[in-house]
Amino acid sequence: MKKECSKISTHNNLTWGGVDCQKLADEFGTPLYVYDAGIIKSRCRELRETFLERWPNTRIRYAGKAFLTRAVAELINREGLGLDVVSMGELFTALSVNFPVERIEMNGNAKSHEEISYAVSSGVGRIIVDHPDELKVIEECAKKFGHVQKIMIRVTPGVDAHTHAYISTGQTDSKFGFPLDGPMLTDAINYAMKSEFIDIRGLHFHVGSQLFDTDDYLKSLAKILELMKRLKGELGFITHELNIGGGFGAVINPSVPAMRSEFYTDKIMNALYEGCKNFGLEIPCAIFEPGRWVISEACLTLYRVENIKELPGITYIAVNGGMADNPRFALYNAEYDAVAIANPDGKIYNREGNTKVSVVGKCCESGDILIDNAKLPLLKAGDIIGLYNSGAYTFSMSSNYNYLQRPAVVFVENGEAKLVVERQSLDDLIRGQRDY
Ligand code: LLP
Repeated sequence: MKKECSKISTHNNLTWGGVDCQKLADEFGTPLYVYDAGIIKSRCRELRETFLERWPNTRIRYAGKAFLTRAVAELINREGLGLDVVSMGELFTALSVNFPVERIEMNGNAKSHEEISYAVSSGVGRIIVDHPDELKVIEECAKKFGHVQKIMIRVTPGVDAHTHAYISTGQTDSKFGFPLDGPMLTDAINYAMKSEFIDIRGLHFHVGSQLFDTDDYLKSLAKILELMKRLKGELGFITHELNIGGGFGAVINPSVPAMRSEFYTDKIMNALYEGCKNFGLEIPCAIFEPGRWVISEACLTLYRVENIKELPGITYIAVNGGMADNPRFALYNAEYDAVAIANPDGKIYNREGNTKVSVVGKCCESGDILIDNAKLPLLKAGDIIGLYNSGAYTFSMSSNYNYLQRPAVVFVENGEAKLVVERQSLDDLIRGQRDY
């Protein structure tokens, strides 16, 4: 296994992907999402080598919701993986760079007629059905476009994942998927099996996100295996494919060893093989949809320190971004670690009396926090800091709150930097607005 790119230079400024971060800040401005493309590629390679090549009849669909731009779609395609999209916008982005449509699968709990029609007419590989009403729409569209649409049905395993409530999706009362028991699921499967325009390939479940052990996956899988057995007996329905969702965890700092994908996939696949054997089931094609794990640790977001406010008991380091480019602390109390670009190995700043140091943004909210309790060396206005592990659900969840311009995205690798998304201009902020 090739080592991921080294991140920390031994002297002077921190480098990322072999590029001096101070120079990146000077050239492209801040805030700036800086992705080491080498790390993303090595994650893709790890998935290929330890999952796709080790286990036959498997697929990986990178969850684009974590971070999708044209460049990301191109990279994922070149790495030979597929894509999980959840909206017309994500599908459009992928198709704009000719992403092979048969390798795209569409999720979503409230797909519009328009989205389904777009997906079917484009020829997406699978539609993951989340509500019985979708079936009729898929059927109607497939008939109109003259083909048979492959689908899977998303079920809710009834397991409450050990993660933040907002990113736990497998519990029984989740808004996602079909409950395992009751006629809603069996009616839908029966309907799909009878339709000449639908090819129902199997089941999908997703337990939650940012998971650091396999307990919740294994508990869910046990329930799904029982379901597969029941559906086979009651309806003669064979689960040819089983999508196990995403959820692999990302660590907060490069000094902490990253989770290995095979930590999840090996245990889950062994349990799947064993369960199928015990229940007399054919082993389905297994699919994972990791998002965060592929992308998050590749990114360092650069910010400029605007000012430092020393108050009794707390020091605020205010930067030129915040919840508009990264709302994850505000939403989930997400933890981050920062580094001072010009002094990456500097002694941690501890004011007299152990003052707490908080990195805060420039939005007009007290909850606009990036790091509540940061460990940083002494800084001054104008210094650049970097937020580690900030590549997932940041750009993709960013907003123009307070009319802040969305930052640029740069890919770095082997000492080269490439701008892949331009910083929004002031004109971009009022584009599409009409006079009254
Ligand atoms: N598949 C499905 C059906 C999903 O709902 C998700 C994430 C994934 C795959 C990818 O999960 P991942 O591997 O990235 O954990 N905005 C939140 C995360 C929301 C996750 C939603 N679904 C955050 O910033 O933590």
